[in-house]
Amino acid sequence: MIQTTTKTWRLDDARQTLAIASTNDRCPQVIYWGPPLPAGEDLEAIAGVSQLDVTGGMLDANPDLSLCPEAARSFPGQPGMIVRDAAGERLLPKFKLHDVAQDDTGLVITCEDAVNRLTYTAEMRIDPETHVIVMQARLNADRAMYLHWLAAPVLPAPQNSDDMIDVAGRWCGEFQLNRTAWSAGIRYRENRTGRTGHEHFPGLIVPCRGATNTAGSAYAFHYGWSGGRRMIAEELPDGRCQIQFGHAARMETAPSKEFRTAILYAVYSGEGLNGCAISFQRHLRDRVVRWTTPGTPRPVHYNCWEAVYFDHDVPTLKDIATRAAALGAERFVLDDGWFGQRDDDTSSLSDWEVDPRKYPEGLGPLIDHVHELGMSFGIWFEPEMINPDSNLHRAHPDWALGAEDQILGRQQKALNMALPEVRAFLYERIAALLSAHPIAYIKWDHNRVLPQPDAEQTRGSYALIDQLRADFPHVEIESCASGGGRIDFGTLSRTQRVWLSDSNDALERLKMQHNAALFLPAAATGSHVGPRRCHTSGRILDIEFCAWVAAQRHMGFEMDPRELDPRETEVLKDVTSWWKDNRNWMMNADIMRLDSADPSVIAEQQSARDGHRFVVFAGKAGTSAQIAPRPLQLTRLDSNARYRVSLRNRGSAAALSRGTLTLKDGPVILTGTALMHNGLALPWSFPETMWVLEGERL
Ligand code: DGJ
Repeated sequence: MIQTTTKTWRLDDARQTLAIASTNDRCPQVIYWGPPLPAGEDLEAIAGVSQLDVTGGMLDANPDLSLCPEAARSFPGQPGMIVRDAAGERLLPKFKLHDVAQDDTGLVITCEDAVNRLTYTAEMRIDPETHVIVMQARLNADRAMYLHWLAAPVLPAPQNSDDMIDVAGRWCGEFQLNRTAWSAGIRYRENRTGRTGHEHFPGLIVPCRGATNTAGSAYAFHYGWSGGRRMIAEELPDGRCQIQFGHAARMETAPSKEFRTAILYAVYSGEGLNGCAISFQRHLRDRVVRWTTPGTPRPVHYNCWEAVYFDHDVPTLKDIATRAAALGAERFVLDDGWFGQRDDDTSSLSDWEVDPRKYPEGLGPLIDHVHELGMSFGIWFEPEMINPDSNLHRAHPDWALGAEDQILGRQQKALNMALPEVRAFLYERIAALLSAHPIAYIKWDHNRVLPQPDAEQTRGSYALIDQLRADFPHVEIESCASGGGRIDFGTLSRTQRVWLSDSNDALERLKMQHNAALFLPAAATGSHVGPRRCHTSGRILDIEFCAWVAAQRHMGFEMDPRELDPRETEVLKDVTSWWKDNRNWMMNADIMRLDSADPSVIAEQQSARDGHRFVVFAGKAGTSAQIAPRPLQLTRLDSNARYRVSLRNRGSAAALSRGTLTLKDGPVILTGTALMHNGLALPWSFPETMWVLEGERL
């Protein structure tokens, strides 16, 4: 009988325990991840009872599902690493535990492969407040290697899960949730576009059987990298499931002695999907984003893109700015069209100099006007891009990434951000403008995918943003890529806001915001009131609905304010002023998706961190199957506390709502139990309308 030695370690917070074990000094594997284990729990016993039996048709023991599963140990699924030496020879590492360093919140696990002269390091750190576990893997060698694949520390997924939820999307349709049943084999998602992508938000949720938004157990993952990820969710032949995340394969094109994954963020929740969502929202807002002026209110935006497009004219823009300020805007963002000869999207990207035809006296007069109105000024750039019809391309065609005959995207190529001279050029142009004018904000766009994926490109973009952030720390940056094409925690560790979508259609936005809240907090999620007839869907929506949908997140406007009629102006002013009155707590609130009994009602509850107030947004996305509205149950309230709940916009009830509901007359006072168990029946409403309920703990 072979002697077995098992070493164990655990990471704990009030929400969860994650325990790992190394048997006979092999690379450790996760043996437990779930609700907090009692202090004295026998981890060796857990390791023992988690061993699966073997029977006919199996190996004589089940290979470990370790933090880096190894092909050389007969692991029956995808390995955690695929590496070759400089001569192209494939290496099959077999790691031996070298060291585990533990402090209050983290573990650093080092394993070595003496034969192949490789060191694998996994770092896992638990955040006791947000409950997010932050993980990263590193591979070191004493000579340069070629990396095909390196997974961040590999975690098991529960076997009592029927399906997994990952995220897809498209331009103007970001954050679509996919539910895929677990079955033998792999759910494999790889993004080879070189940008995070509308299609590929790097997130995964694994709900245990029966979990809903508000109840049950769930695990969630996010890979914080903007260059494209690979996700493997694999059910092994023996039933075990593994989750791997890393950069898309073969993105490291050059040999190196060291490779690192990006950060994998993971969390367990025993309180439904919302438990995961709250953790990610808090972690992003309180740990990942570096705010330029922490503690100051998020300003109401005005962005001129859908008002003027490329047709910039200073008197018109001043008029628009004046009207936007009167509506309540506090920041004016000058979008695409101010530079080069940019009269449409066919030219001038990379010629970052103010167009004297449109701005004969430069940007100064417009910026001064904006400041006189009490607004700050922001400006649009698309730094990584170049049009073939540009002065820079004529001077340096070799600065563009990819082949000369590549397919263009929006008539443009990407610049090669790995080249220091490209970064220096971009830095100089952007810094010149930021130094010449009081500019508080950059909308940083990225409107095409790359001709080929390359991690150096992503690192180059990160380096440029980092340098600008260091030298202009007061300048906030919004990440935009034709809307939500570059949303991830890697980008958000350098920026402060995302442009969730180019769709300003409030109905589409309602759905996208609902799903994006699984990962993103309101403070970093831009949402604007668009033109009356939406430019990307053709839909006409009432201003009240549009205003409340924008008020769910970081609010702004993007229509031409000259098109607003007096009622629309009044509604917009009213909702904006409500948003300003509430933003200080709402921008720090937890967004919880409600399990609406009516699938046509998309509802969320935003609760203040201290639990003293909440707001519920119940958006009617379509006509209901049943005739009377189904009660909406609230969540995460104090069962015994009493709350005063009022329908903020009860004056908007349609004439077809004929019942005598108390909520239509004024506030009601109910306990948390009543609100969570019975819920509230809201007045009958038209599709494409929103009820707003305000709650205050007494
Ligand atoms: C795409 C963005 O998503 C839009 O908001 C706008 O900034 C345009 N680019 C400008 O070209």
